[in-house]
Amino acid sequence: MNISTSATADSVRDVRAGHDDPLVRVRNVCKEFGAARVLDDVSLDFHRSEITVVIGRSGSGKSTLLRVVAGLTEADSGTMDFDGQRVLEDGEYTEQWSQAQSTIGMIFQSYTLWPHMNVLTNLTFAPRIVHKWGKKKLRAQAEQALDEVGMSGFISAKPHQLSGGQRQRVAIARALMMRPRLLLCDEITSALDPPVAAEVLGVLSRLKRDEGISIALVTHDMAFAAKAADRLMFFDAGRIAFAGSPATGFSQTENEELRKFVDAVRF
Ligand SMILES: Nc1ncnc2c1ncn2[C@@H]1O[C@H](COP(=O)(O)OP(=O)(O)OP(=O)(O)O)[C@@H](O)[C@H]1O
Ligand SMILES: [Mg+2]
Repeated sequence: MNISTSATADSVRDVRAGHDDPLVRVRNVCKEFGAARVLDDVSLDFHRSEITVVIGRSGSGKSTLLRVVAGLTEADSGTMDFDGQRVLEDGEYTEQWSQAQSTIGMIFQSYTLWPHMNVLTNLTFAPRIVHKWGKKKLRAQAEQALDEVGMSGFISAKPHQLSGGQRQRVAIARALMMRPRLLLCDEITSALDPPVAAEVLGVLSRLKRDEGISIALVTHDMAFAAKAADRLMFFDAGRIAFAGSPATGFSQTENEELRKFVDAVRF
């Protein structure tokens, strides 16, 4: 089933139209926390309807990068274009930003659902305010989003009644409610055991394929990176030390840092 929203319709159209300009284009972004330069002149593209897997050591700047793209952390300098529109200019968000931001969803490792709300309320809380949809539409969209992640039947459940994998699938469904064109996922499977993590990541692969949603995913799951990533990005001390195909990345011999990292996490 497809989520029939305008943003995903745009995504699907992008693919059919064979757009090859990136959905997100980041150039020369810098971010310092105190004396630490956490993003050091970062330039990258997130391509339409692709999964980009971001890897790198703890503290290398992966979460900061996703947070800057999502608008949760301000950059000090640099530019960002979203769907061809300039949304960040010299570290300042432009007028085009609010439109773009409403089609960017971000999901985190934990604390993703509001514990006191049931699944339906978790899903409908933001769109009720942002889109001002009525009750019927909210429920219909929630049912559709839950169906999309294989969680129909859990609409009245409370988060504590769900397993970790189910919670993350509901978190993805909640992001789908906001009609995302881009999903940013920060270690969303790191608290899950491997089969459950594989299931959650499988949901993302299906969303890319069926809805044309672009996905940027920070993970230590090299098996998923090798199998499902269209592009691999390796962060090292605030810089992108490698960006290219997973096949090239995993067989990299020239980039010593990447080689060491991949060897260390390979099982
Ligand atoms: N709000 C903040 N204030 C101060 N320092 C911060 C802040 N957020 C991140 N940092 C610092 O920036 C650096 C990069 O952090 P970031 O969370 O982006 O790394 P990461 O690659 O996601 O690491 P991990 O794999 O552990 O999640 C770290 O040294 C961190 O301590
Ligand atoms: Mg992180």
